[in-house]
Amino acid sequence: MNSLVRRSAQQLSLWRTYCVKHNAPEAASPGRNAGRPNYEEFIGRHQRQAQCSIVVQVSSEKSYAELYNYCSSFGSIMGAHHYCVRQDETLHYILLEYATSDEAAAAIGAGVTNGELSGVPVRSPFLWFRAAGGGRRGPKLVANTAPALLSLDGTRQVDQGHLLGLLRGAADIEEQVQQLHEHTRLNELGIRMRFLAALQVQQAIAGMFPAAQAQPFGSSVNGFGRMGCDLDLILRFDSDMGAKSPLEAAMPSRLVYHTKENLSNGRSQTQRHMECFGDMLHLFLPGVCHVRRILQARVPIIKYHHEHLDLEVDLSMSNLTGFYMSELLYMFGEMDLRVRPLTFTIRRWAQTCGLTNPSPGRWISNFSLTCLVMFFLQQLRQPILPPIAALVKAAESGDSRVTEDGINCTFTRNVDRLGFRSRNQSSLSELLLQFFEFYSQFDFHNRAISLNEGKPLSKPDHSAMYIVNPLEQLLNVSKNVSLEECERLRIEVRNAAWVLESEVENASVPEGDGQELSWGLLNLFKHPEKAVIRPNMFFKPRMVEVSDLFEQKEAGATSSTPPAPAITYKSASMRQQVQSIKAATRSELKQLRGSGSSVPASSPKNRRSSR
Ligand code: GTP
Ligand code: MG
Repeated sequence: MNSLVRRSAQQLSLWRTYCVKHNAPEAASPGRNAGRPNYEEFIGRHQRQAQCSIVVQVSSEKSYAELYNYCSSFGSIMGAHHYCVRQDETLHYILLEYATSDEAAAAIGAGVTNGELSGVPVRSPFLWFRAAGGGRRGPKLVANTAPALLSLDGTRQVDQGHLLGLLRGAADIEEQVQQLHEHTRLNELGIRMRFLAALQVQQAIAGMFPAAQAQPFGSSVNGFGRMGCDLDLILRFDSDMGAKSPLEAAMPSRLVYHTKENLSNGRSQTQRHMECFGDMLHLFLPGVCHVRRILQARVPIIKYHHEHLDLEVDLSMSNLTGFYMSELLYMFGEMDLRVRPLTFTIRRWAQTCGLTNPSPGRWISNFSLTCLVMFFLQQLRQPILPPIAALVKAAESGDSRVTEDGINCTFTRNVDRLGFRSRNQSSLSELLLQFFEFYSQFDFHNRAISLNEGKPLSKPDHSAMYIVNPLEQLLNVSKNVSLEECERLRIEVRNAAWVLESEVENASVPEGDGQELSWGLLNLFKHPEKAVIRPNMFFKPRMVEVSDLFEQKEAGATSSTPPAPAITYKSASMRQQVQSIKAATRSELKQLRGSGSSVPASSPKNRRSSR
């Protein structure tokens, strides 16, 4: 890697020439997203949208006209989205948005119980449009009053082949990064569906807890979510997620609710509450299925699947810091247009080379990886993001947020107060290469990553990777990462830097249409054939089971046994080696069979039986 370090400056200038040569229109227009809503406005807008919406299961999108005519009697329908959920059969749904929440409530209120089922009837925004009695049909749609039915998939990820085709056809790496972001990020319907899932939980308990809030956080709302991502949801019984109004702060009410006192400690009480809520979700909420309680984790959660939304949900009731952390990430994403496409590319790369995994473990999480990207953007000579300490310093009284555990999550919500303007003009492809180079040289052994300071600190303990938790600075976000996984990350970033550099040296972007060729990000995502340095085979699961090499024919021969999976070889020489071993083994077996005994005469088994 030393040569990489030495050549770094030279490579950068080559890279710039390469990007220009390959027609990069301009470095991805750097700079801020002027006039975009802040996090609370974004959340508030989607919450209002959810309150104005209902989801109706229909037999197909052809039911729209009839549904529109029927539901218009409750209010003005402003928007309609059709989506499908694929189970054993394809289920069709139409999400209708009314002009007001009262109109949506009127539609829900007009619903009736399904007499064919014995379950407890629960009011929720999830309904079913049954056929009109006696085969009656409503009049045809009055075209000029109804909004067009938008057909959009809010759950499914883009097909891998289609995505690779798009990347192959892009003009340059810059465009590949943008395309990847554009086609994999969570779309508008995906966001709406997540806010509806949150509203359903909130409304289910509103009778007893009118101030309760079920708030989405994590990648569903921080702008780093891809299609199909889980919904992280926090349920709070009080409404302490925003700033208190000055009146509330100055004159607290003299009427105090009688309350049952918690007799056990906070954590076991939360676990008890969650158990109870888990039961409620499981028994009563339409669409909620596969409820699992994970109550021993640091942050206890209830996991469930929502079958009308085709969505996995992680519901927690404690740890508001995750919610505020999402706000910080949202703000970072909004500060510069390059932040999200770059992060999407790096997250995708990490996924393809197996550095991240949807289940938690000793590997780096998507959240920690996102922190690595943010830190990289903070520590640049011309930083693209400010340190969190600057956001804390610029806070005003309205920004004060302290969680019930006393964790201070106060930072400015108004980035204009920072006076931060990035002068960094690097293109996305330059930043991508710089990211890989930066972490291939980073001293994970001795240094901790601090997004608060925007620079490395001395590592306070012996964790393999140390990322200071931005809101609980005594904790390490990446405490779970093992030494092997940290080493694997270092190797993979080196390989990635190498691959991107070879792109420059070999000028491997196709000149013609090059539809079959692999170039740019495709080579980065092609794994592991192109990897140049790869001494990490010990940490990877075995590519091929030895038994597979020999059993294929025999397994295929018996009709009851399914054929062994086809083996993919790393290279032609590997295939040859394996085939010659197979041939040699087969001839040995033949010889043994030819000798009339399946067991050699000198074998211990033979000796024992002869006694
Ligand atoms: P994916 O679910 O993989 O798409 O990413 P995610 O960003 O949603 O990550 P995850 O579901 O693991 O966590 C949800 C959110 O909780 C994150 O976006 C963070 O805002 C927050 N979070 C997760 N881990 C930590 C942590 O260790 N400290 C803090 N402060 N927040 C965390
Ligand atoms: Mg998540």
